[in-house]
Amino acid sequence: MPRISASFHRAPRVALATLCLALAAPAAAADLDRGRYLVEALTACDNCHTPRGPDGYLRDKRFSGGSQTFNGANYSVRGPNISPDAATGAGAWNDDRLTAAIVAGVGPDGRLAPAMPSEYYRILTARDLEAIVAFLRAAAPVEAARPIQRRDGEQTAETFPGAETPFEEKDLADPLRRGFYVATLARCMECHSGETNGALDHKEKLGAGGKLFRTPAGAAVGANITQHETAGIGAWSDDEIKAAITKGVGRDGRPLKPTMANLSKAHFSKMAAQDLDALVLWLRAIPPRAGLPKTTD
Ligand code: HEC
Ligand code: HEC
Repeated sequence: MPRISASFHRAPRVALATLCLALAAPAAAADLDRGRYLVEALTACDNCHTPRGPDGYLRDKRFSGGSQTFNGANYSVRGPNISPDAATGAGAWNDDRLTAAIVAGVGPDGRLAPAMPSEYYRILTARDLEAIVAFLRAAAPVEAARPIQRRDGEQTAETFPGAETPFEEKDLADPLRRGFYVATLARCMECHSGETNGALDHKEKLGAGGKLFRTPAGAAVGANITQHETAGIGAWSDDEIKAAITKGVGRDGRPLKPTMANLSKAHFSKMAAQDLDALVLWLRAIPPRAGLPKTTD
């Protein structure tokens, strides 16, 4: 199992070379399939690490770096090249460096900006983390210059409650736990929880909506997806909820705005029935909360 450590950059050259050779061994087909499924249906790594054209992701430039810049109070960063290109991508990185970035949010210069959502990936089972790494290593190497990242001062991120430690495989046999796993990896609550004083409040406002998004495609507000009968989705049927998640359409059939619709079409549409059922079961367990007006910043 890959270890998490921030000291990968101190690994001596020889050890690194040996590791690279060991890693070049072909991954099991089952791992690759699982890795592809996790990346494409749930974690949506492409969303920030693959460039886009007018028709969506540029497949021949997969994982070579995202088009969107994420600006926070103390950072301005883009998803870098994580394709296996040795010079400009992740081809020369050892497993420790990859997994430290994915589940601990640690890069070679320290804590990454929270735009890299490691707080939601820490929950990955050991097997699933390995599968994602195997899938990334099997992608085509693409040469692409690394973005210049700006990080001022200490980068911090809130841990998603319940996702502090990795899940065990046996957790996934419990439908409610599985639903939480799916919702966490798909980061539903990063967009759907309400905010208190400008910070996500998963404790008091889990799923209550109200977060404002400004994207190149226009503004949108995270919807209330609690079980509230009128403010949330408490009165929706399972099929209506599934259509919103996998097809990007609202209850009345209207297309949802791009923030949600793009994820639905490119990613959540690939969710396996077992995961979708578990996700809906978990959503049904969210206590009803009335929509709270967005607090002005
Ligand atoms: C919401 C956007 C977003 C998603 C989704 C995302 N990333 Fe990232 N990722 C970033 C950004 C932005 C950075 C750069 C952060 C920085 O430099 O401070 C980053 C950094 C990384 C790094 C570190 C690169 C380095 O230089 O050390 C790796 C590895 C990585 N991401 C892998 C992944 C994988 C694998 C997934 C899916 C499981 C993923 N990311 C999903 C935005 C994202
Ligand atoms: C990147 C942000 C983002 C992520 C991640 C996200 N959503 Fe959404 N979602 C939105 C926004 C914004 C809307 C409102 C779209 C609109 O107004 O048309 C929305 C709409 C919805 C709706 C329709 C609600 C309504 O009242 O019309 C449902 C249901 C939903 N999302 C569920 C989910 C689930 C479940 C997940 C995780 C699998 C998820 N979303 C992930 C941003 C996101």
